[in-house]
Amino acid sequence: MIINCLVKYACVAVCLLCCPNPISTQNVDPSFHGIIPAPNEKVFASGDLSDIMDLKIYLKEEDKSAYLISLVKSIKNASFVTLEKANLIPLIDHKTGAESYLLDILKDKIDIKAGDKAGLQYALVSLSQMVIHGGYPLPIVKLKDSPKFKYRGMHLDVARHFFSVSDVKKYLDYMAYYKFNQFHWHLTDDQGWRIEIKKYPKLQEIGAYRNETLIGHYNDQPHKFDGKRYGGFYTQEEVKEIVSYATVRNIEIIPEIEMPGHALAALAAYPEFGCENKKYEVATKWGVFEDVFCPNEVTFRFLEDVIDEVINLFPGRYIHIGGDECPKSVWKKSAFCQELIRKNSLKDEEGLQNYFITRMEKYINSKGKQIIGWDEIMEGGLAPNATVMSWRGIEGGLAAARANHDAIMTPGTHCYFDHYQSESAKEPLAIGGYTSIEKVYDWEPIPEKLAADKSKYILGGQSNLWSEYIREYSGVEYMVYARGLAMAEALWSKQKNYADFLQRYEKHYDYWKTKGANIAYHLYELKPKIIAGKGNPVTVSFVLPNNSNVIHTVNGKLGVNITSGEETKIATPGTHTFQAVNGEKKGSPLDINFDLHLATGAILTMNPEPSKQYYGNGPGSIINGVKGSNEKYGGSEWLGFNGKDCTGVLDFGKDVVVSDITFRFFKGEGQWIYLPKKAAVFSSDDGVVFTLVSSTEEITAETKVSTIDISLKDIRTRYLKFEISNYGIIPDGAQGAGHGAWLFVDEVVVMGK
Ligand code: ACM
Repeated sequence: MIINCLVKYACVAVCLLCCPNPISTQNVDPSFHGIIPAPNEKVFASGDLSDIMDLKIYLKEEDKSAYLISLVKSIKNASFVTLEKANLIPLIDHKTGAESYLLDILKDKIDIKAGDKAGLQYALVSLSQMVIHGGYPLPIVKLKDSPKFKYRGMHLDVARHFFSVSDVKKYLDYMAYYKFNQFHWHLTDDQGWRIEIKKYPKLQEIGAYRNETLIGHYNDQPHKFDGKRYGGFYTQEEVKEIVSYATVRNIEIIPEIEMPGHALAALAAYPEFGCENKKYEVATKWGVFEDVFCPNEVTFRFLEDVIDEVINLFPGRYIHIGGDECPKSVWKKSAFCQELIRKNSLKDEEGLQNYFITRMEKYINSKGKQIIGWDEIMEGGLAPNATVMSWRGIEGGLAAARANHDAIMTPGTHCYFDHYQSESAKEPLAIGGYTSIEKVYDWEPIPEKLAADKSKYILGGQSNLWSEYIREYSGVEYMVYARGLAMAEALWSKQKNYADFLQRYEKHYDYWKTKGANIAYHLYELKPKIIAGKGNPVTVSFVLPNNSNVIHTVNGKLGVNITSGEETKIATPGTHTFQAVNGEKKGSPLDINFDLHLATGAILTMNPEPSKQYYGNGPGSIINGVKGSNEKYGGSEWLGFNGKDCTGVLDFGKDVVVSDITFRFFKGEGQWIYLPKKAAVFSSDDGVVFTLVSSTEEITAETKVSTIDISLKDIRTRYLKFEISNYGIIPDGAQGAGHGAWLFVDEVVVMGK
């Protein structure tokens, strides 16, 4: 041990004497010695190392929060000392700005100037990350840091599955460590009411428990249930404990009480707040339910009472009142609602939704608080002071900002951490979609098309974790902890560099692993970029971190290694295996089965193009010889068309004889994905005039993935056009009713010679 230490310090000494840049020879992170999110300005970096091998911190008693005490305890060789003994004396200097700090690491001392308590916390978090993930000695460096966005949120749904007080505290610890400052706590929904309301005890006696829970995915039919009563709620004492835990971490909690939809658990407890005289039950499966609050006086009295108790518990500025996914079918049938619409000269049921939200807003404003709602709160008009949370894309946020309303961006495409993060078949069951860590990292909360003078209304962004498919906190860790690092940087750091981030991510991954957290690791997961549809052979390439290579095996025979970015032609059908290597094998091998067919070498023109959310590697993904997964529609194979048909023209470059064309479709009605109505195929010699060859009857199938084969009768043709008609508008009573259906296609296989 002593010898080891001597050797180590001798090396440091030698480096200090003779290396022009000891930082790189120490294999220290290139940018910020392990800090996530990356600080915004490195004012000075000498390239030298500080002599400091311990942090002796003097902090005024009033600044010594429980969090800072626990943080300092977790740092190697760090302790609180008296003023005379300190080498680190952080100061709060209000001139520096909210949440900001200056961190100046010198040869033998460290200066911190923070704009406020949050800034002080962030300075100490950055410093602790430098020690924990970068190690002593620290580089001599001066950082000047403040956030890109003032709203940096993380959401947690505790209604679909309930997480204990200690789990919620772990979530808050994670948030504090990555400088998030808003915890959106989704406390009520159809499947459970989770907050004690003293005036309405049946909310916790009845509303907090369901009889059983769906097993497997909602799209798996028939539905199966576990037969076990499930539930729980937070007492007001527990809520207070969590609020104070968050407050000392400079995190504001935004409680969400859902209305007028997602109200089934409340209605099960108090059926008199529904429009129909019937018995309601706490939902046992996921989705959107027609039973919603009735906009009558007793309901408003109830909701105001609930809000009164909630306001007493949460000191923050906002109350989130949901507003999303509220079907209007019961309001349409209700004589009371129709009369209310008439009496108040409302346009329709959307006007009634606006009446509901505006009325609740007025009440909440009268108590000195502001409302936030999901983007559906804009239906029928926007309540005067509301902040909009844009989730169905960016349009809600754009519209709000253009109308001079604050908006928080949380589009499903980049911010929904209940989506899959990997294409691997081994991933734990998730709701669907595909949101990789890279996609989160690249996300910019301010939409490009927003005029510069309106961008101030975009307060920031937020990740959302809906918990339908997450029963345990380890599942929360799996879905959030890796992508949360990318989100932290997307919301804090003004300049981003993914390659640099990946190096820091590896260190943070190791840290969470040693703490026993179930953080996901997909750093070396191979994401093939398969290109087809350009009239050339199919090619595959990979982008790899840290100069790694890929070993390529074709039907069991070793091929030539592939370097990062290199395009490799796929000439042989069969199983191609790819394995990342960087000194040693990294990650899992990836098997891709290439079924080459007549269309894989054709030129494809598609109009309209697939939706940007499910675009694969472009339209050619539909003819690249690789079939989309039987289980998941996310990833780079299935192409999605939102409310649109899938129409393509194949140019084979010369006359060919075609015998069959097959289409594969994905069905997931819970996610608004419907089979097409029908498909038709046309031939042409000139690419201008097309003749119908064959078409299907109405397409029906029970299975998630179905294959439809159309005989082309061995016709000779140069061009082939396919037209696959979207299902159209989703019918009443189904998930997403009234929206255009999604159509998912992969692969279009053409057989012939
Ligand atoms: C939502 O995801 N329903 C806001």
